[in-house]
Amino acid sequence: MQNDIQNLKNVALGQIIEAKTATELETLRISYLGRSGKLTKLIKEIKQIDKNERKQVGILANEAKNTIEKNLASQKNKLKESARVWFDATIPGKKPPQGHLHLVTKAISEIASVFEKLGFVRVRYPEVEWDWYAFEALNMPKNHPARDEWETFFIESREHKTLGQIALTPHTSSGQIREMERVGKPPIRMINIAKCYRRQSDVSHVPMFHQFEGLVVDRGISIAHLKGTLDYFAKNFFGPDRKTRLRPFHFQFTEPSFEVDVTCDVCKGKGCKLCTDGWLELGGAGMIHPIVLKNGGIDPKRFTGFAFGWGVERTYMMKSGLKIDDIRLLYSSDLRFLTQF
Ligand code: FA5
Repeated sequence: MQNDIQNLKNVALGQIIEAKTATELETLRISYLGRSGKLTKLIKEIKQIDKNERKQVGILANEAKNTIEKNLASQKNKLKESARVWFDATIPGKKPPQGHLHLVTKAISEIASVFEKLGFVRVRYPEVEWDWYAFEALNMPKNHPARDEWETFFIESREHKTLGQIALTPHTSSGQIREMERVGKPPIRMINIAKCYRRQSDVSHVPMFHQFEGLVVDRGISIAHLKGTLDYFAKNFFGPDRKTRLRPFHFQFTEPSFEVDVTCDVCKGKGCKLCTDGWLELGGAGMIHPIVLKNGGIDPKRFTGFAFGWGVERTYMMKSGLKIDDIRLLYSSDLRFLTQF
């Protein structure tokens, strides 16, 4: 028995010295000193041996137990110490992953800052809006076929007597009347950048997107002011050599109405496969319809104005030359895509 204890102790001490981690040490402690550990079992057997020998063996077992415990503790300290000694402060640290602003957030602040330089006031209006502001006041009465183009999400709710149904804003033009009401008397110079919602989803449409809407109302505002503003934006946002052009179009809330194009950056207006004869389509614009001014409480005989409304996502994609073949990627939360920008 004395030999068994001695051998067990020696083996245990050898293993303790070899242990490299606190977990290994704990496993050793349990395997020797735990409830069914090897030394514990031997100690339990002491009762069965001869009385004369029992005391001597007991002393030996106790000593073995204490020595194993002490060695476990000192090896644990050594491991701690060596971990400290081996900490090398000169090794470059690991950088935690760093995020950045989303493409669309960057685009919004760039767009806002261009218009703010012209004295436009940045506003935001409700994303959940009355039919009156989204359509009716913009010269699109109920059941007017032009409304179909906006593929609107209507909310199931009680209809308001004068304001009508509730909808998710399908365009930032709903901010036109709200801004006229807010300011009261012109001059008005608004840039409304907000989320819009439409029942659309394909490579060039997302159900939630952003538009920026410009609105200027004052005495004697003409198409020349509109064109000047658009050119200023194009040169400041896209680059000094870019130009815009107005193409006749139709919107219910502007008269005359236009589609605005900007010269293609790749071919510089000469024509290439990425554009149409050197031009890329930006979005809609026009002179505010007198009915809309009237609905906003402004006398169309004294004041005139222009408005334009474009998609933030598409405008930004045009600027950066990003050849994203599916606009939905912008909102897919796929980090492999987003971390590229
Ligand atoms: C309008 O929404 C008009 N309110 C613009 C306007 C304002 C005209 C003021 C005149 C005066 P349109 O439906 O074409 O127009 O949308 C304008 C732009 O929004 C589009 O050119 C496009 O860039 C963007 N857009 C529209 N629907 C989506 C969509 N589902 N996903 C991403 N971008 C969209």
